[in-house]
Amino acid sequence: MGSVSPHVTRRGFLKSVGYSGGAGALFATMGALGLAPTEALAAPPFRAPSTSDFHLSGRSARKVVVLGGGIAGLTTAYELGKAGYDCTILEARSRTGGRNFTVRGGTEQTDLDGNTQRAKFSDGIYMNAGPARIAQWMVTLDYCRELGVPVEVFTNQNASAYIYNESAGMTPGNAVRYRTAKADVYGYVSELLAKATDQGALDATLTAEDKSRLLSFLSSFGSIGSRTNGYAYTGTEHRGFVTDPGAGTEAGTILGPPPSLSSVFASNVGRYFSFEFGYDQAMLMFQPVGGMDQIPKALTKAVGERRVELGAVVTGLTNTDRGVEVTYTQNGREHRITADFCVATMPPHLTAKIPNNLGADVTAALASFRVTNVGKIGLEYRSRWWETDHKIFGGITETDMDLQHIWYPSYGHLGQRGLIVGYYNTGSAANVYSALSHADREARAVMQGVKIHGDKYRTELAHSFSIAWHRTPYLEGGWTSPPYTTPGYQLLLQPAGRVYFAGDWLSHSVAWQHGAFVSARATVSALHQRVMTS
Ligand code: FAD
Ligand code: ALA
Repeated sequence: MGSVSPHVTRRGFLKSVGYSGGAGALFATMGALGLAPTEALAAPPFRAPSTSDFHLSGRSARKVVVLGGGIAGLTTAYELGKAGYDCTILEARSRTGGRNFTVRGGTEQTDLDGNTQRAKFSDGIYMNAGPARIAQWMVTLDYCRELGVPVEVFTNQNASAYIYNESAGMTPGNAVRYRTAKADVYGYVSELLAKATDQGALDATLTAEDKSRLLSFLSSFGSIGSRTNGYAYTGTEHRGFVTDPGAGTEAGTILGPPPSLSSVFASNVGRYFSFEFGYDQAMLMFQPVGGMDQIPKALTKAVGERRVELGAVVTGLTNTDRGVEVTYTQNGREHRITADFCVATMPPHLTAKIPNNLGADVTAALASFRVTNVGKIGLEYRSRWWETDHKIFGGITETDMDLQHIWYPSYGHLGQRGLIVGYYNTGSAANVYSALSHADREARAVMQGVKIHGDKYRTELAHSFSIAWHRTPYLEGGWTSPPYTTPGYQLLLQPAGRVYFAGDWLSHSVAWQHGAFVSARATVSALHQRVMTS
């Protein structure tokens, strides 16, 4: 150690204390050494505040008012609560979870236009109206583990699901299966690339060995013919079967022959294939057993229901000399709450409209997030005809109709009833549906779905429930696009006086609970660090 400077030695010591002893030991030791915490805490992994932070440093937990009881607000209170902070969550809606909203029989919601729906779904049937899938790398799964929320696989891709592109000439009854569409596109692309390679078009780029390896890859990837037949793609079992392989001499009948190369590309089916390559959309994906709202339910329980004020609509937000003051209405009465700090997790475009003294630049930054309109409908069916008749067990059918995506359920396989998400759309397509009454949304979704699945899409329907997130009180949007490159975004990552912000909108994982979790963690760390050093 002799050659290491005392400063470096102390930093190394702090780091080792931090890693083995947690944030509490780290903060206490830093206090003893008189070091600035930011120096030792460059890009640390998240460490929840703990009571020992205070015991060891002689400081005490503070009172925090959290605005919004979605994932970010609940996580803020949950993590601060581990150290004994006195948190109160003000949530405008009648339930926690925010956009994490699972609709079951009896769920009631009134939209901004005054229309009320009451779901009539059967027991055990639910619709995840907001979040529905979780990627394996997301911290969301860590919280499921910590909170004891069981998860199961969510099927995000299914070779048996359909693609239906009406604008490219497909007609009702002629949707193509994903496996068939992929076989044809990969087959023809492989044929073309093999020909070009063999004819020397890539000789400037490839060695002879490269060419041989590429041809070998294309042969299996595209299921194409050999050199002697010009690497022709003529269709194989990758396309699927008309008659499945069976017993004895029944070898099965392969679906074929494939359409021409030209018509395969004209059908534009390939536009959907890259979806499953996305870091956040690749299988395996997961969902909580019994509905996504198991997460906020578990968080609410862990925070303590007594700390959550439901139906509490924040109306004012003020930094004072000694803390923060928040006004809200609840049951028609006006209330005022004071605290040492505030964490505001409401959607930014709505926070911007709440009277405050945070500064014009802060309010302008909050107002600068662009909102995405989003809609979904849940269709409960009396029978699982998509499983019995179409052999589809979960996954997504893609269309160029304005319903955009149809989701088959990833739970209840082989059961009696089930729920299909009949549309999940954004932007102008979401506006088309949200402009309609619920009955007309259902009629439009069914009319479009029948084109792909046939009459049972109408005749087996039992109940439905639709949501237009941009017409939903206290949310008014599916998600927002952060102005990442602006000073305004940077401004909101800092506290405005004693008011901090958190939410998926302050992350690089917008429209994912992961974003809300990690943003809340970042805010908790910053707030706790301030308390521990002031
Ligand atoms: P929010 O959930 O928006 O919470 C904000 C809270 O503030 C709300 O509870 C609101 O009621 C409250 N509030 C607003 N105004 C006031 C007021 N004046 N007073 C008091 N309270 C107020 N994520 C995934 O992980 N997987 C997915 O598959 C997925 N799919 C999605 C699909 C859809 C259709 C939508 C809409 C979202 C989806 N998400 C998904 C994103 C996920 O829902 C969000 O990232 C996450 O829930 C955001 O949490 P939050 O706490 O940041 O914000
Ligand atoms: N993250 C949202 C979803 O996967 C947009 O549906």
